[in-house]
Amino acid sequence: MLIAPSVLTADFAKLKQEIESIDNADYIHLDIMDGNFVPNLSFGPHIAKIIRNETEIPFDTHLMVLDPLNWIHTFSIPGTEFITVHYESENFLEAIKLIKEQGIKAGISIKPQTEVEEILEYLPIVDLVLVMSVEPGFGGQKFMPEAIAKISELNRIRVEQGLNYLIEVDGGINDETIQQVKAVGADFAVVGSYLFNQKNRKKEIKELKEL
Ligand code: DX5
Ligand code: ZN
Repeated sequence: MLIAPSVLTADFAKLKQEIESIDNADYIHLDIMDGNFVPNLSFGPHIAKIIRNETEIPFDTHLMVLDPLNWIHTFSIPGTEFITVHYESENFLEAIKLIKEQGIKAGISIKPQTEVEEILEYLPIVDLVLVMSVEPGFGGQKFMPEAIAKISELNRIRVEQGLNYLIEVDGGINDETIQQVKAVGADFAVVGSYLFNQKNRKKEIKELKEL
């Protein structure tokens, strides 16, 4: 299982130590919120670049913004491996194309109310599908078990159609829910509050990877 800590729940007053505390992670998940697509704000490119200067871990950037087309150039920061946009956002298809033009892998994300059927035609052109297992906007929410069936369906379609997108899950992941999503085919887990509430985060990341 690939592990991507979400720095949303990190202590931004000691960002350097917070990043150091997760330096065995596979990716760093950057949650970008614009106060429109979701009822919250997070942080912008200034903080993302500060994090970039502290670590070589590749970025997995999750854009929760009204129009991702306006933000792709800004977040095409060196060392960004994935940028994911929401199917429910404006111009998402153009955004996916623009991400690829930057030489970055493109992801599509669906909110809890969106069914896999709605994104079928886009599966062949994405590198990653991000299944939200909470309503986007805030860390620390409870995992919604409805995500399990979606992951399982995405895994079935991937095998049947010979596609090779990664399946990522985001929201309410802990040492129990990670096993549930792994069992049905998820490859990649975002872990926010559960991880940042641990004393020994490196040990926890190691254990989550090996589960
Ligand atoms: C929610 C974000 C998530 C969130 C994960 O909008 O996309 O990445 O920060 O945090 P936890 O693991 O606390 O649910
Ligand atoms: Zn996220």
